[in-house]
Amino acid sequence: MSQLFARKPIADLVVTDETRSLKRVLGAGDLVMLAIGAVIGAGIFGAIGTAAAGQVGPDGVVIRYGAGPALVFSFILLGGACALAALCYAELASMIPQAGSAYAYSYATLGELVAWIIGWDLILEYAVGNVAVAISWADYFTTLLRGVGLQLPVFLTTGYRTALLSSNPEVNGLIASAPHVLGIPILINLPAFAIVMLITWLLLRGARESSTVNTVMVIIKLAVIALFMGVGIMNINPDNYTPFAPNGFTGIHQGAAIVFFAYIGFDAISTAAEETRNPQRNLPIGILGGLAVCTFIYVVVGAVLTGLVPYQELAVADPLARALEIAGFTRVGWVVALGASVSMATVLLVFQYGQPRIFFAMARDGLLPQWAARIDPKTRVPAVTTMLTGVLVAMASAVGDAAETYDLTNIGTLFAFALVCAGVLVLRVVEPNRPRPFKVPMVWVTAPLGILACVFVMAGLPWVAWERFGLWIAIGLLIYFGYGYRNSRLRA
Ligand code: ALA
Repeated sequence: MSQLFARKPIADLVVTDETRSLKRVLGAGDLVMLAIGAVIGAGIFGAIGTAAAGQVGPDGVVIRYGAGPALVFSFILLGGACALAALCYAELASMIPQAGSAYAYSYATLGELVAWIIGWDLILEYAVGNVAVAISWADYFTTLLRGVGLQLPVFLTTGYRTALLSSNPEVNGLIASAPHVLGIPILINLPAFAIVMLITWLLLRGARESSTVNTVMVIIKLAVIALFMGVGIMNINPDNYTPFAPNGFTGIHQGAAIVFFAYIGFDAISTAAEETRNPQRNLPIGILGGLAVCTFIYVVVGAVLTGLVPYQELAVADPLARALEIAGFTRVGWVVALGASVSMATVLLVFQYGQPRIFFAMARDGLLPQWAARIDPKTRVPAVTTMLTGVLVAMASAVGDAAETYDLTNIGTLFAFALVCAGVLVLRVVEPNRPRPFKVPMVWVTAPLGILACVFVMAGLPWVAWERFGLWIAIGLLIYFGYGYRNSRLRA
């Protein structure tokens, strides 16, 4: 039993051997940019519509209530919850500046079993989350193509599960009408597959190059959001703000539970710890600065969007572009759609960057096979896991459904946030004297509140998300006892 909770000494976590560690090239500015790159994406361009308008199943049953214009309160609530978790992330990231993020922190604080569970759980945040983003990206991309008169065949832009789950008879009917090979319908989302593979190729070239491309794309993203805000603010119709909270607090809560997806990513910066110069100073700046900028943007976008059109109109895949279109700004809508696809590409980049580094850290600890810890000798990138993540995410994006993956990603991420808050408290007790370059203020209030806030947002998710999450963790435990438990370096 005590072996399951063996903690890795923090000194061991900080790898100094050059051939087994990554290259320190990123500064505070790069990190804030990486944070914005990771955060602003499918959540604000896609999921925000469902959060405002709610969601109804094919049988007419309400799956979740929408927040309506009170969506701004969902964003403020989430900003607060994430700030609590972000402070805890910043303390741990500055103490343990190593690739692997929450996985590495829990190894040092809560022991190996919890570390494994977190590492396994983070796959939901990074890889599964990216499946949703890639599909959302492809939706915007095909819309853009249509805008310039190019039309791909529908069976090459629709994933099998999307067709299967759709209540729209036209989409659902694709299963019968698509070309069949050996009796299997060929329904694949080719753009989603292609964008993930393209980004994987980019990442294989090295961290510095990836960060530069990210910075350029983040500037484009901010410009497009500014455009949306500028045009939107001038055309707000105050009538749209009544009723302000059509479903009361239930709507605000359930809206928050889905649009939480928009906040995911500030924590991904911590996976870059091992490639950050002066991480003690730069990591907290990157994490908290990125979160602050994004929260501000979301509150403004939420207020503008629900003021521009009646919230019921927002139950679409591209709510920002659609709202502009309804308000009579079709061309601006097209430009915003273009910006949305750039934004989502940056999100893909950061998460495709983070996931392999978590696998890499787990393999280095012996919890995954050693081939996963291999670093490319020239670029010092964890090449094997980068490639593996790319292929798996690309394949899942080709056949998966976006809506199905949002909730699963959210529940997994919130769980990780709660454990990070708990980890900070544990470490304050078991290693009170270890230097803390960044300290959570009023930690005995902040961290427990952070845990409560995460559990509260989780409670707003549908039951099916809880079931799938439980199943995922159960599979993870089987793998741990079948492999990691026997091969862990710490216990060997
Ligand atoms: N926060 C990221 C997005 O909204 C995951 O796409």
